[in-house]
Amino acid sequence: MVLGCETGVVLKMMSRNKWWVAVVFTGAWWSVSLMAGAQVSVDNSSNSVLIVAEKESSTSVARKKAEAHAETMDEPEFGWDPLDIIGSKHDLSALNVRAGAKAMEGVAYDDYGYACVYCHVPPEVDTKSKEPQQIAGWNRIRSDMRDYTLYSSKTFNSTARIPNEVTLLCLSCHDGTMAVDQVVNTPRAWKSGAKMTLHMKINSGTDLDHCGLCHDGFTAHSLGNKHIGTDMRRNHPVSIRYPGLGAGASDSLQLAFHSPVDDFGFANGVRLFNGFVECASCHNVHEPDKVKFLRVKPEYLCITCHSY
Ligand code: HEC
Ligand code: HEC
Ligand code: HEC
Ligand code: HEC
Ligand code: HEC
Repeated sequence: MVLGCETGVVLKMMSRNKWWVAVVFTGAWWSVSLMAGAQVSVDNSSNSVLIVAEKESSTSVARKKAEAHAETMDEPEFGWDPLDIIGSKHDLSALNVRAGAKAMEGVAYDDYGYACVYCHVPPEVDTKSKEPQQIAGWNRIRSDMRDYTLYSSKTFNSTARIPNEVTLLCLSCHDGTMAVDQVVNTPRAWKSGAKMTLHMKINSGTDLDHCGLCHDGFTAHSLGNKHIGTDMRRNHPVSIRYPGLGAGASDSLQLAFHSPVDDFGFANGVRLFNGFVECASCHNVHEPDKVKFLRVKPEYLCITCHSY
C-alpha cells in the first residue's frame, strides 16, 4: 500500500507493523522513521539511507522470545522446526488473539507471553534448581502419580510402568487434573501481578475451573475428547520398553514387531525414548500441520512397529 507520492515523499506499508517513509531529494533517497526503535541502513551505491521502523506487536514479541529460547536448545532430530508450534493448538500464549474477535477475552489463564514455556524450562532459569514435584527436564509439575491406573489387558506382555517424564508432560495437561498454565518457572519478563486466580483444565467440566465452560461442544468445539484422563487402560500402552530393547522388554514379542534403527526410533520419524514407547512416539506436538500431530500418516503408524 502506497499512501502518497507527491513532492518526493513516499509512505509505504510493508506489512502490518512495518512502514517505510522515504523522502526524495535530487538524486538521493532519504528515509525518516515515524516510530522509535527504527533500523538505519545506508546504501552508498544508490546514494540512499533507509530507516525501517517496526512497531512491535505482541505476536512479533512472542516470536522473538521463542527464537531466543530455541537458540539455547539442541537441534531437533529429523529436521522439524521448533517454531512451528507458534499459533498452533499447543501455543497457549495469546489464545484470545488466535481465536479471533477476542473470543476468549477474560478467560482465566496465565499468558506467559510466548509458547515454549508452557512445556520447556525458560532459558534464563538455572536447571539445577528443581521443584520437588517438577517433571524432570520440563517446566511442569507432575500430577499425583498414584492416580494413574496403569495399562493392562489379558494379552499384554510388557510391563506397564508409572509414566516416564515425556509422557507425564503430556498428561500434565491432558489428564484434566491440572491447569494448562500451571508451570514451575515463569519467564523472567512475566509480572506475577498479572497472575489470574483461576486456572483452567482440559476436560469437559463446565464450571469456572474448566476450559469446558465454553468448549462444551456447543459454544466452541469440544475439548472433552482431548481429555485423556487418568485411566491409562483406555489408551495405547505407554512408558513400555520396545520388544528386544533391554531389561523389562518383552523379548518373546520380537517377531511381532519391526526392529527400530536404534533406541531412539525408526527411519520414518516414529520415535522411541531411550527404548521406550511414549505418547510422543506417535505424536510430535511440534508438527501441527500433521493430522492430530501424528508423526506419520495414520495408515503407516501402527505398522511401523507392529508387524502382525
Ligand atoms: C506442548 C508442549 C511443548 C511446547 C509448547 C513446546 N515444546 Fe518443544 N518439545 C516438546 C516435546 C514433547 C519435545 C520432545 C519430542 C521430540 O524431540 O521429538 C520437544 C522438543 C524440542 C526440541 C528438540 C530438542 C530437545 O531439546 O529435545 C526443541 C529445539 C524444542 N522442543 C524447542 C521448542 C521451542 C523453541 C518452543 C516454543 C516455540 C517449544 N519447543 C514449545 C514439547 C513442547
Ligand atoms: C501445556 C498444556 C499441554 C501439554 C503439555 C500438551 N498438550 Fe496437547 N493439547 C493441549 C491443548 C490446549 C490442545 C487443544 C485442544 C483443542 O483446542 O482442541 C491440545 C491438543 C492436542 C491434540 C489434538 C490435536 C488436534 O488436532 O485435535 C493432541 C494429539 C495432543 N494435544 C497431544 C499431546 C501430546 C502427545 C503431548 C505431550 C508430548 C501434549 N499434547 C502435551 C495442551 C497441552
Ligand atoms: C469464554 C469462552 C472460552 C473459554 C473459557 C475457553 N475458550 Fe478456547 N476458544 C473459545 C472460542 C469461541 C474459540 C474460537 C472458536 C473455536 O475455535 O471453536 C476458542 C479457540 C480456542 C483455541 C484455538 C483453536 C485452534 O484450532 O487453534 C484453543 C487452542 C483453545 N480455545 C483452547 C482453550 C483452552 C485450553 C481453554 C482453557 C484454558 C479455553 N480454550 C477456554 C472460547 C473459550
Ligand atoms: C501408538 C500411537 C499412539 C500413542 C502411544 C498415543 N497416541 Fe494419541 N493418538 C494416536 C492416534 C492414531 C490418534 C488419532 C485417533 C483418532 O483421531 O481417532 C490419537 C489421538 C490423540 C488425541 C486427540 C483426540 C481427539 O479426538 O481429538 C490426543 C489428545 C492424544 N492422542 C493424546 C495422547 C496422549 C496424551 C498420549 C499418551 C498418554 C497418546 N496420545 C499416546 C496415536 C497414539
Ligand atoms: C512406537 C511403536 C508402536 C506403534 C507406532 C504402535 N504400537 Fe501398538 N504396541 C507397541 C508395543 C511395544 C506394545 C506392547 C505389546 C505387548 O507388550 O503386549 C503395543 C501394544 C498394543 C496393543 C495392546 C495389546 C495387548 O495385548 O494389550 C494394541 C491394541 C496396539 N498396540 C495397537 C496399536 C495400534 C492400533 C497402533 C496404531 C494406531 C499401534 N499399536 C501403534 C508398539 C507400538
